[in-house]
Amino acid sequence: MVGTKLACHILRETMLVVCIMGVVSNGASVGVNWGTMTSHQLPPAQVVEMLKENGIEKVKLFEADPKIMEALRGTHIQVMLALPNFMLMQLSQDSSVAVAWVEENVTNYFYPGGVDIKYVAVGNEPFLQTYNATYLPYTLPALKNVQEALNHAGFGSQIKATVPFNADIYYSPESNPLPSAGDFRPEIRDLTIEIIQYLYANDAPFTVNIYPFLSLYGNNYFPLDYAFFDGLNKPVRDGEYVYNNVFDANFDTLVWSLKKAGYPELKIIVGEVGWPTDGDKHANADSAKRFNQGLIQHALNGNGTPARKGVIHVYLFSLVDEDTKSIAPGFFERHWGIFEFDGKPKYELDLSGAQQNKGLVPVEGVRYMPKKWCVLNPRVKELDDLASNVDYACSLSDCTALGFGSSCNHLSRKQNASYAFNMYFQFKNQNGWDCDFSGLATLTDEDPSDDKCRFPIMIARGSSKILLHRKIWYILLAILEGIIVFLLVVS
Ligand SMILES: *[C@@H]1O[C@H](CO)[C@@H](O)[C@H](O)[C@H]1NC(C)=O
Ligand SMILES: *[C@@H]1O[C@H](CO)[C@@H](O)[C@H](O)[C@H]1NC(C)=O
Ligand SMILES: *[C@@H]1O[C@H](CO)[C@@H](O)[C@H](O)[C@H]1NC(C)=O
Repeated sequence: MVGTKLACHILRETMLVVCIMGVVSNGASVGVNWGTMTSHQLPPAQVVEMLKENGIEKVKLFEADPKIMEALRGTHIQVMLALPNFMLMQLSQDSSVAVAWVEENVTNYFYPGGVDIKYVAVGNEPFLQTYNATYLPYTLPALKNVQEALNHAGFGSQIKATVPFNADIYYSPESNPLPSAGDFRPEIRDLTIEIIQYLYANDAPFTVNIYPFLSLYGNNYFPLDYAFFDGLNKPVRDGEYVYNNVFDANFDTLVWSLKKAGYPELKIIVGEVGWPTDGDKHANADSAKRFNQGLIQHALNGNGTPARKGVIHVYLFSLVDEDTKSIAPGFFERHWGIFEFDGKPKYELDLSGAQQNKGLVPVEGVRYMPKKWCVLNPRVKELDDLASNVDYACSLSDCTALGFGSSCNHLSRKQNASYAFNMYFQFKNQNGWDCDFSGLATLTDEDPSDDKCRFPIMIARGSSKILLHRKIWYILLAILEGIIVFLLVVS
């Protein structure tokens, strides 16, 4: 947006049309979560290029990965930068830990022309029920220490600390499952309200992760259409409010909980929301597109939810697939990306919400390892050890696409084995000795993929040619600049 506005000013005199186009948009845009739990990471500089090409102006990072921060330097991309949960205890007990973190991970980047850090996310869903209260005592003191360290560095008015919560911190009782009956979970209610008070006093937002997909995943009786944003024949009534989708109902349960806590106006950011494309019967590209496109239009059109009008601030989960994420919640965990692990768009998505059938721009210049696959040797007859070898291969790679309802679930037992062997082989960077499996496996240069099930080739390690070319180009430019300055000085 910044770029558009600037161009608009310059062009005002000559090209009025361009300016009008710039002004029509309300300046709102969706952000994306950029996670890095992958066996083979895309080069950050090329991902940043792709973000710019797609007009993505906001990212959320789960930690201050120096390579990513470096790549974001000099862009206008706004950043929410997170501190991982394992740091919460230390951060809460020792304010100098927060000061050191801010110094290394904020001060180093936060200056005009550096990285536009806007929020620091303290922890990630620290009150999640499955964490058994582990982080309850640390979260508020850590939040305070981080915000104070930011204030101390002189950034307090520009950078706000917040805590991304899972939506399981509030609920409506089963006897009255409406947003207006919502409140924070009783055992953490007082603590949550203390955090809210602190956020409010610092003009910081409340951040919440909302997952309609999980409502559907966990409940066979959940009405499918209620998970999406288009059409529902039986809307849910809550007094004067009418709900057509579970996202709004969930969001408004928070709005009501905040009202009851005495903070009806607290700014809300949806830190994560999205739909996976594999690993479950409801996880596929069509549903993901339907959900995300509906969400983007809804979030940006300014109508808001029944209980809170205006643009809804959302960060999509997520940018790319992450093949080393924990699958404890389900096989779908590794398939949330709007892009594949290698930066290819999975489906068309118009991020501006203008309802154009627009494709996303892929990450350019990705280099792959050679076109080699490791598969079950068709000549092998003795298959007694097959299962144990498949289990081994899957335990050290990613076989989530083989599961029930997934893209490769139709494979035969032998094809299953090939899939598993190949994933292991690719994870291990195609080392020859990693394609053996007690003599069951063999190499092939024939792609075993079919139209549904892809046997991937991983990204090659090391710097790419494009980047090298770019570096040389920058060096030449710098030399040229030097010559010009020199000529100006001597003339
Ligand atoms: C800065 O962030 C990185 C990534 O999370 C972390 O490894 C490092 O320890 C942080 N620096 C300090 C001084 O805390
Ligand atoms: C939480 O408690 C349950 C039951 O006591 C246990 O099975 C689980 O492993 C615990 N989880 C964590 C993250 O500590
Ligand atoms: C292939 O593997 C998946 C996951 O391990 C399993 O659910 C499926 O039943 C297997 N298919 C066959 C035909 O063995």
